[in-house]
Amino acid sequence: MDDLSSRVIDWRRHLHRHPEVAFQEHGTAQFIADTLERIPGLAITRPTATSVVAQLDGAQPGPTVAVRADIDALPIHEENDVDYRSTVPGVMHACGHDGHTAIVLGLATRLAARRGELAGRVRFIFQHAEELSPGGAEELVQRGVMDGVDHVIGLHLWSPVPVGKIGLISGPAMAAPDTFSCTILGAGGHAAAPHQTIDPIAIGAQVVTALQQVVSRAVDPLDPVVVSITQFVAGTTFNVIPNSAYLAGTIRTFDAELRRTVPQQMERIVRGITEAFGATYQWTYEPGYRPVVNDAALTERLVQVVTRTFGADTLVPLRPTMGGEDFSAYQQRAPGVFAFVGARNEARGLTHPHHHPRFDLDEQSLHIGLRYLEAATLDLLGAPQDATGTRPLAMSA
Ligand code: NI
Repeated sequence: MDDLSSRVIDWRRHLHRHPEVAFQEHGTAQFIADTLERIPGLAITRPTATSVVAQLDGAQPGPTVAVRADIDALPIHEENDVDYRSTVPGVMHACGHDGHTAIVLGLATRLAARRGELAGRVRFIFQHAEELSPGGAEELVQRGVMDGVDHVIGLHLWSPVPVGKIGLISGPAMAAPDTFSCTILGAGGHAAAPHQTIDPIAIGAQVVTALQQVVSRAVDPLDPVVVSITQFVAGTTFNVIPNSAYLAGTIRTFDAELRRTVPQQMERIVRGITEAFGATYQWTYEPGYRPVVNDAALTERLVQVVTRTFGADTLVPLRPTMGGEDFSAYQQRAPGVFAFVGARNEARGLTHPHHHPRFDLDEQSLHIGLRYLEAATLDLLGAPQDATGTRPLAMSA
């Protein structure tokens, strides 16, 4: 392991010990800025209170490549027994953003050292608040971090994929994670006299059942859609029928038309059932992030980069996920690809899913993620041709 690889692991472990949740990443942003300050040649800015952007101008003009890392942790209490475990009760890097941050710090270090070879500029985006809608990406785009950018790349260390493998999905890759809530307004009363009430629990149960039919009977089976009802809250005790019941959940889509029509169909069902039983309702729908859609031509180019850098057997076929990601905000401004870098190690028990209190990474994935981003950035910069007319190889440790 070279010196930079061990520093990347140290950075990741430092961040892991000191996690901060979305929009509160003050110590994290300061650590990133302090680390970047020690790298010669970077122009560092702080677009918002808890985000950091660094720009590296190559020796020659050329395209601008943006590389994004998200930096926030989750409100989860860590259950791992490791020496770098979280020191903050109830807060944990349970999604791997500590690793993303460390990788992009490593990338800035390595590319700054090769500045003389670079044609173009690299913008390193350390983005706050990926985990909490409306997210940090949109805010940073509004602050201009994508101005003049030709390509944007990012990655997620991915526990479903074994370490050593990389997944590149062309086209739709992650869903739009929208949310809804619905309050059913009945009329409460004595549980022994239900005929004198309008029971919001009985009505709510029918609503939950009927909403299952939106996906199973109103959506083309070849179009991926999820409707999950994740909250059903009503009542206080055994002998009172409550006035109201609260339902909420998430709607996941890729297709823009379905994203528009599915909530309309859901509300129509809620309206019909509540009206049939003499109740009323309040409906809210909140759009979340846009779907992550990887640019096809850029994906193909990065497939070649991975093949050259690691060999074709590193690429693993991966299906889209119904999870959401605000990397999509950057993709509205420039062609972008969000990659999935394997972080799973069965033999070491590193198999827990993202957002689990025992989530952890095989740290070899940090090294692979760094090599991938370095090779991809150099390729996109159109690194100067050497004397033989071939591009210099993407160097790796
Ligand atoms: Ni994540």
